[in-house]
Amino acid sequence: MYKLWDLPVRVSHALFIIGILVAFITAQLDAMTIHQYNGYMLLTVVLFRILWGITGSTPARFSSFLRGPAAVIAYIRTLRDPVLRHWPGHNPVGGWAVVLMLVAVLVQATTGLFSNNEDVMFDGPLNHLVSTNIVHRISQFHGAWFYFVLLSLIVIHISANLIYRVIKNQNLITPIITGRAPITQAEAQLIVFAPAWRFCLCFFIAAAPVAAIIFKVI
Ligand code: HEM
Ligand code: HEM
Repeated sequence: MYKLWDLPVRVSHALFIIGILVAFITAQLDAMTIHQYNGYMLLTVVLFRILWGITGSTPARFSSFLRGPAAVIAYIRTLRDPVLRHWPGHNPVGGWAVVLMLVAVLVQATTGLFSNNEDVMFDGPLNHLVSTNIVHRISQFHGAWFYFVLLSLIVIHISANLIYRVIKNQNLITPIITGRAPITQAEAQLIVFAPAWRFCLCFFIAAAPVAAIIFKVI
């Protein structure tokens, strides 16, 4: 067992799970203040994870796990094999699923900024930038996006991880919690973990636009 997922990847993942649960519950309860700040947290985390995908530790980088169509098709063909091909990181299909989920969370949080909730007279922080008609449409889109896109991706994501666990006997879940995965020593030696200063830089760049929204600079 060697370290594969660094702390920023694992904490971001945990925050996605907690944040999406909180977003769903607070939306049902019309608890818009908590919904709003929880949304800001998720927006910061997703922006951070995108930056970390460009400059972070090598297994977290998009360049290390996004493969072309030929590699994706070749991987899908191997799925029927009794012994699964082992990947030191996201496999070619999982890699694209990661991008889809990050984009889905980004769209969800961004549209929330332009939404309103007429039941409790709540206005999103950027509503002043668009017309009332657009706010109305974006609010509907924000709800529909959650139920039809984000939730579907999450159900597929969790099912895929459970299928790997139960049918393929490959445990991907423990590594995303502990960081340690059954990769070879040679694979582990190739990993370059990003330094703490780079984490701080990515975090501040991600938090800056969100802080600008919270403090009404925008
Ligand atoms: C990724 C983060 C977010 C998630 C997962 C999320 C999820 C949801 C869900 C499930 C609903 C209920 C939709 C319905 O039942 O029709 C909702 C409603 C709403 N959300 Fe979010 N939301 C997020 C971020 C935000 C943010 C950042 C804001 C504003 C600052 C926001 C503002 C609203 C408003 C105003 C509504 C009410 C819309 C309506 O009544 O039609 N959301 N959100
Ligand atoms: C609720 C919302 C969830 C969201 C938005 C989400 C999103 C993500 C994202 C973006 C990644 C990529 C991690 C990275 O490279 O930073 C990921 C990986 C992963 N997630 Fe989730 N996740 C959610 C829930 C769950 C749950 C409940 C489980 C447990 C069954 C889970 C298990 C995993 C595993 C095992 C991986 C690593 C897969 C691999 O090794 O390639 N996720 N998830």
